[in-house]
Amino acid sequence: MRDVEIFEVGPRDGLQNEPRLIPVAEKVALVDCLSRAGFRRIEVASFVSPKWVPQMASSGEVLRLIRRAPGLRYAALAPNSRGLEDALKAGADEVAIFASASEGFSRANLNCSIEDSLARFSEVAKGAQAAGLPVRGYVSCVVECPFDGPTPPQAVAQVAAKLQAMGCYEISLGDTIGRATPVGVTAMLQAVLEVLPAQTLAGHFHDTAGRALENVEAALVLGLRVFDAAVGGLGGCPYAPGAAGNLATEALAAWLEARGWHTGLDAAVLAQAAGLARQMRQGERDV
Ligand code: HMG
Ligand code: MG
Repeated sequence: MRDVEIFEVGPRDGLQNEPRLIPVAEKVALVDCLSRAGFRRIEVASFVSPKWVPQMASSGEVLRLIRRAPGLRYAALAPNSRGLEDALKAGADEVAIFASASEGFSRANLNCSIEDSLARFSEVAKGAQAAGLPVRGYVSCVVECPFDGPTPPQAVAQVAAKLQAMGCYEISLGDTIGRATPVGVTAMLQAVLEVLPAQTLAGHFHDTAGRALENVEAALVLGLRVFDAAVGGLGGCPYAPGAAGNLATEALAAWLEARGWHTGLDAAVLAQAAGLARQMRQGERDV
């Protein structure tokens, strides 16, 4: 069976960059709709500093109010032990830690060096595992950094291997600013695949330059079978200038299905969720 899993990140990576503070009820409605689409994992929360990312301040409420579908895991970002504590209290099913392959982005996003962030994340990973939760790892700026320029593939491999050594069951490789080309993605993946098997990797390609699908294709060729996407193409990263727009889930699902890959997702429900995402943006224009 040619299965590909789409990991939905819209309610987190999609919404975190929206300037209007979106009411909790709208966020919950989006997640509840997505819960009917057939995903196995949805990232819905981020327990970061509300001063850094005000939009995610309602993460606890969102996790408490959503209607949970059986067997679906609701994930949350945790940047430090305090974030983990809040994620556990709110009932997250899995936790994500998020490091960078470039120093410039690490400082902009986490206010510390890569090394210091990994020391902090190691504590988060230990705590999550002690509580019985799976931990997913992200590596940002895997091909390009808005501050440091091109990222050496070896730097990505090193950070990914360190996250795996902390016990991350999967490492999602992020083209944070969507400037990667298939050539760059291939070179980066070849370096990472020297140290980690394809089954432990996911692709997280922002679509800023409209090349995300080409990058998915390059990653599929090298054996990756999990890709992150945000319904309605919501998104961006507040600390990466130019990171507007995740790859739209419904576009990725349609693209994959047309090429004979099976996603298990319901296109009609995805269209409904994309409609809700569009309304959220419309609400923003109306403010
Ligand atoms: P800091 O300012 O260096 O740390 O922030 P601090 O420990 O000095 O804390 C500053 C203030 O934040 C304090 O409050 C803390 O209590 C509070 P004050 O004393 O000033 O009133 N604080 C917290 N509050 C709530 N929850 C917490 C928490 N921690 C501290 N967990 C910190 C360090 C890591 C906290 C900050 O830099 C931060 O929150 N960064 C997160 C930035 C972020 O969320 N970025 C977007 C997600 S990453 C992404 O989108 C990329 C990805 O999609 C993959 C890709 O595309 O590449 C994953
Ligand atoms: Mg992202």
